[in-house]
Amino acid sequence: MTEPTIAILDFGSQYAQLIARRVREQHVHSRLFAPGVRPAELRAAGVVGIILSGGPASTYDSAAPRLDATILDMGCPVLGICYGLQILAETLGGRVSAGATREFGRARLTIHASDALLAHVPPESNVWMSHGDVVESVSDQFESLASTPACPMAVVRHKMLPIRGAQFHPEVTHTAYGAQIIRNFLYDICRCAGTWRTQDIVRHAIDDIRARVAPDARVICGLSGGVDSSVVAALLHEAVRDRLTCIFVDHGLLRSNEADLVEATFRDHFKTDLHVVDAAERFFARLRGVTDPQEKRRRIGHEFIEVFKAEATRIPNARYLAQGTLYPDVIESGHGHAGTTASIKLHHNVGGLPAELGFELIEPLRDLFKDEVRQMGELLGLPREIVWRHPFPGPGLAVRILGEVNPERCDLLRRADAIVTEEIRSAGWYDKIAQAFAVLLPVATIGVMGDGRTYAGQHVLVLRFVQTTDFMTAEWVHIDPIVLDRISTRVVNEVRGINRVTYDITTKPPATIEWE
Ligand code: XMP
Repeated sequence: MTEPTIAILDFGSQYAQLIARRVREQHVHSRLFAPGVRPAELRAAGVVGIILSGGPASTYDSAAPRLDATILDMGCPVLGICYGLQILAETLGGRVSAGATREFGRARLTIHASDALLAHVPPESNVWMSHGDVVESVSDQFESLASTPACPMAVVRHKMLPIRGAQFHPEVTHTAYGAQIIRNFLYDICRCAGTWRTQDIVRHAIDDIRARVAPDARVICGLSGGVDSSVVAALLHEAVRDRLTCIFVDHGLLRSNEADLVEATFRDHFKTDLHVVDAAERFFARLRGVTDPQEKRRRIGHEFIEVFKAEATRIPNARYLAQGTLYPDVIESGHGHAGTTASIKLHHNVGGLPAELGFELIEPLRDLFKDEVRQMGELLGLPREIVWRHPFPGPGLAVRILGEVNPERCDLLRRADAIVTEEIRSAGWYDKIAQAFAVLLPVATIGVMGDGRTYAGQHVLVLRFVQTTDFMTAEWVHIDPIVLDRISTRVVNEVRGINRVTYDITTKPPATIEWE
C-alpha cells in the first residue's frame, strides 16, 4: 500500500529538505522530486499534496527550472513557497520581476482575508523573508490574503483551484507561525491523517536497501564510531544480515573507549562481520614532524583511504559501500536535489571515500537530519553512548593536538578528554552541550607542584564546550564553574604532563569550534 505522501518539488532551495523535515515532524510522509516531475509519477507515489520549494533562480531567466503545468490540474492541493510562489504565479499568467527592494530577514505579515492556510495565525505576526524577486502581478484568478510592507502578495490563493503560495518561508523557525501554517496545509487542506513515525523512516530505509542490493553481493560499511555510520550499519544489519561487512579503521587518534564500544556493539551485540584494522602505527609514522593543520588532515585522509581500500578489496563479492552522509553534508557540498543549490562550504569528512574504489554507494541517511538519525539509532537498539555521543571530527584527536602529533601526546589528550567527558556526564551537562572536548597545546608554562617548579615536558590543556544547532555558528557554554574546577583538579593531578587548564570563551565566528 502506498503511504499518503506530500511531494516537495525541489527548485534548488537550501531549505527543501527542511520543508520535508517539517512535514515529517507533523507525522506526514514526504518525498523530494525534481521540479519537472510528471503527474503520473506523483500519482504512483501516492501524492496527496504538493509543496513547491524556494530556489536561487529567477523565473524570468531562460535556464530557470520550470514546473510541468499539468500537475496543477491533478486536483491535489499545492503550496508554493518563495520561488515556488513565483513559478506558480508565472505559470498561471502572472508576472515576476526583480523587486525594487530585496527582503532578507524578518518582516511583519498582515493578514487581510481569512483562509484555511492561515487559521490560528494572528492578524499580525513575524515571518522570515529571503528574496530579491517579487510577484508583480497575478492573473485575476488569484487573490492576495496577506502582505508585508515590501510585498503586497505575501500569501495568495487561487479562486477556483486548491493552489496557494507564500513569499516567506514557513519552514524556518524565525517564521513565528510557520509550523501552524504547515500544519494547516497538511491537515486541513490536504486532509492528511498524521500517522507517519520515525519507525516508518526506519522501515522504509530497510526496504529500500533490500530492494537495491543484489542477493549474491556483500555490502561494506565503514564504521567511524559516530552515530551516523553506526545507524547505517544497524540498518544494513536489519536489511541484509550476514551479507554485511563492517570495517573500522583504528587510526590511533580516537577517544578513550571508542574502539571497544564499536567492537562490543557490532561484533558482540549485532554479531556482524567486523574487521578492525589497527593502523595506528602507520598513521603516526605519516604524521611524524607534521605541524601544519591542513597537511595533517591531508595525510590522515590519504592514509585512511589507502588502509580502507586494502581491507575492502579483500572482501569477496563486495559490490556496495554504505556511508552515513547526512543531509547537511549534502547541502554543504552543494549537491541538492535539483543540482542547483548554491555551494556554501566543502565538506571535510575523512569518511567520504572516493568513487574510484569502484563500489555502488548506499547512503540511507542522505535526506535526514542528525536528530532524526539519533531517533532511528534508539529504535534500532544502538547503545545510548553511541547514539548521544558528541560529534567527533574524522581526523580525530590529531586536530586537537596543536603541533606535532605523536603517540605520547595523543595519550595525554585522550586521558584528559576522558576526564572531561566523565565529569560533565556526572554533573548532568553532557546531553545539554552540543560538543565538549579538550585541546592540547604544545606550550610549556611554569607551575608549582609540591615543593618544586614544573616546566619542561608540561602542556596546557584547553577546554572547549560549545552550544550550537547547526555547527555553522556556536556559543561557548556558560557552564557551572564547579564542573570546571573538578575537571581542572583531576586533570593536573591525574595526567602527568599537563600542569595548566584553561577555558575557551570565544564564539564561532570569529573562532571555529575546533582549534585546527
Ligand atoms: P569547525 O572547527 O569548522 O567545526 O567550526 C564544525 C564542526 O565540524 C567538525 N569538524 C570536522 N569534522 N572532519 C570532520 O569530519 C574534519 O576535518 C573536521 N573539522 C571540524 C567539528 O568537530 C565541528 O563539529
